[in-house]
Amino acid sequence: MSDPVLRPATDADLADLGRIEDICFDQDKMSRRTMRHFIASASAGFWVAVRDDAVIAYVVVIFRRNTALARLYSMAVDPAFQKQGIGQALLARAEEGTLDFGAPILRLEVHPQNAAAISLYRKNGYLEFALYPDYFPDHSPALRMEKVLVPQLMHRPSPLHFYHQTLPFTCGPASLMMAMNALDPAIEMDRSSEIAIWREATTIFMTSGHGGCGPLGLALAAYRRGFGAQVLVSREGPLFVDTVRKPENRKVVELVHYDFADQAAQAGISVTAGAFGIADIERHSSNGQMALVLISQYRIYGDKIPHWVVVSGFDDRFVYVTDPDIGEDDEPYNGSDCVSVPILRHEFDLMARYGRSKLQAAVFIDLPK
Ligand SMILES: CC(C)(COP(=O)(O)OP(=O)(O)OC[C@H]1O[C@@H](n2cnc3c(N)ncnc32)[C@H](O)[C@@H]1OP(=O)(O)O)[C@@H](O)C(=O)NCCC(=O)NCCS
Repeated sequence: MSDPVLRPATDADLADLGRIEDICFDQDKMSRRTMRHFIASASAGFWVAVRDDAVIAYVVVIFRRNTALARLYSMAVDPAFQKQGIGQALLARAEEGTLDFGAPILRLEVHPQNAAAISLYRKNGYLEFALYPDYFPDHSPALRMEKVLVPQLMHRPSPLHFYHQTLPFTCGPASLMMAMNALDPAIEMDRSSEIAIWREATTIFMTSGHGGCGPLGLALAAYRRGFGAQVLVSREGPLFVDTVRKPENRKVVELVHYDFADQAAQAGISVTAGAFGIADIERHSSNGQMALVLISQYRIYGDKIPHWVVVSGFDDRFVYVTDPDIGEDDEPYNGSDCVSVPILRHEFDLMARYGRSKLQAAVFIDLPK
């Protein structure tokens, strides 16, 4: 018998899919309407296994934009074709599709008596992490399982200790402290250092309030603490001036910039102006430097705010980002949700450009030679 072909589902598969659903499940069946919805949805991956023109198995994964989590919504293999490796192949396809979507963690719920499915998931590295009471229509609980699809996430300990910025405008100091501490654990990360760095590196004004920190100010703060620093910035001249409303405040931001530029020149800090890409950041990282990169929070939180994060690693698919901003108080995040968060390379590339002018800025720091 030929190997089944795996491909995305289409509406033409609905009759076969309904038949599989009817023979595989007694309860909690997926309706045709739901299937049609998932087939059309950009937030779902729906793959079928086809042998001799007939659909014999399927898997559905649903995604949520901007979260690292995906859910394996349903999966079934026609009983006439079970125990032939098709479930295994579909699960691998679902994991690949989940990574392509940018979600490195896949979760699922399974009936605790579904020995076949539990065995398949366990064999593939899914770990049980919770039991949901009264989950299925027959009131039985669901076993919740999860797999981290990017082994580095779990197995490569991040060099960073997390520091949560304590003020809305201190992402730069918080990121710099984490980067310096990763290179030299003797560097303290506390509020007085956070505020001291902000006072050294701030642009003073931003929109209508306190300014954050610019790349030159952060590089100088690192230099003063004994670190080597280099700056890449997409254009010359003062940054963020166009976000400042009052003309007299804009003048202050300009004065601060030229003062920083003079000090950086005297300190011998290399400042390169011109567009750059992920490959440039990666090159510095692979030389052992820690990278602070300016991103726009727009693609994460929907706010058009410039924001500093630490880039703590790369692999073929992801850039690993540590974000000193945990999010709002009512969000259930903690520091470990913010350390080495994988972001798809192309997504990070879009994120690391701020505002209409697509401003790019990065500060690389290393221990003095
Ligand atoms: C679970 C299911 C998808 C597995 O599909 P499959 O094509 O038969 O699985 P594979 O042949 O690829 O087997 C892969 C692994 O699954 C496990 N497995 C599959 N059938 C099994 C069974 N009857 N008993 C115990 N383990 C079983 C084994 O670990 C197997 O590895 P092995 O062959 O090295 O022992 C299939 O049994 C099914 O469709 N069941 C009904 C629907 C369902 O329960 N879906 C899951 C909802 S969460």
